[in-house]
Amino acid sequence: MFTQIISNSIPLKRCGFTLMVLGLLTTAGLAQNNAPAAAATTTNQVPTYLRDIQPIFMGSCSRCHNQQSRFVYNWLDYRTAYLDRWEIKRRVWDSSKGKYYKEVMPVANSPESLALSEADRLTIKQWVENGSPIGAAPVSVAAQTKAERIVAGKKLFSSICAACHQASGQGQPHVFPPLAGSDYLNADKNRAIQLVIFGRQGQVTVNGVQFNNNMPSFPLGDEDIANVLTYVYNSFGNSGLEVKPEEVKAQRANKPQTVNAPAPKSAFE
Ligand code: HEC
Ligand code: HEC
Repeated sequence: MFTQIISNSIPLKRCGFTLMVLGLLTTAGLAQNNAPAAAATTTNQVPTYLRDIQPIFMGSCSRCHNQQSRFVYNWLDYRTAYLDRWEIKRRVWDSSKGKYYKEVMPVANSPESLALSEADRLTIKQWVENGSPIGAAPVSVAAQTKAERIVAGKKLFSSICAACHQASGQGQPHVFPPLAGSDYLNADKNRAIQLVIFGRQGQVTVNGVQFNNNMPSFPLGDEDIANVLTYVYNSFGNSGLEVKPEEVKAQRANKPQTVNAPAPKSAFE
């Protein structure tokens, strides 16, 4: 059974420490009923890494801070984030208030800096100040129908994918390709599944427009990837396919050769 620390009734701000000591161990099933994801700032609960923080990092930090990056830390790894937590808090919170001299994160004017909300910054601050627990990922209840899959996938899309591809699925010119009516997406379901499992670097042409950027790989399970892709396929004018967890599982063995290869050099380099 998964366990996780929750704290339903004790006010968060002043009792952070006591609360960690008194922290109740409870089953994830129970915690999940009481604790919808992303509600940490409004329900007096200590945010946890797997439930509240990692989804924020996936959407707002992972384009730069991922497992392939050579010069900056990978915040999708709990240990790495834990070890540098106070600097994370300073860069995300203090710098944004002008109270720390180093550059605010995400980097100013990046699409991520526009997507990261004040509530997200506060959640990160509270996580650091309350001992940065890892917690447990909310147990994703297996969807029984395509409709359930779409509902679950939409939630995941808003918290992770929308930071780059936008809630409308339109992407951002020259930076993030569109998912709306994407010929690349609709042409090959297995390729799309592989892309979300392994990430993708380098040139890609979507609806006749070239992009050359980096989509990180995300630590998401089969059920989550099936849900999010089913949502994408059934939104934004796409083909309406359903993706099943078994199909995701099958693609885990098929890491494409081209993925993670360095981007091809231009003729001018
Ligand atoms: C567009 C790229 C980009 C994004 C997005 C981004 N960062 Fe950074 N980050 C950098 C770069 C480049 C550096 C190294 C330069 C520096 O320290 O300012 C850095 C440095 C940092 C450092 C300093 C690490 C240390 O110990 O010196 C922290 C902490 C940090 N980022 C946190 C975050 C968090 C948290 C997010 C998401 C909320 C984020 N960053 C999003 C590019 C990015
Ligand atoms: C950090 C930004 C970022 C996030 C978050 C992100 N993507 Fe991407 N995505 C990209 C980039 C950049 C590319 C193009 C990669 C390249 O140039 O090779 C891409 C490409 C794609 C493509 C193929 C091209 C297309 O437009 O059809 C699909 C499908 C896709 N992403 C789906 C997703 C899904 C689903 C999620 C959420 C689980 C997600 N992405 C999250 C940045 C992101």
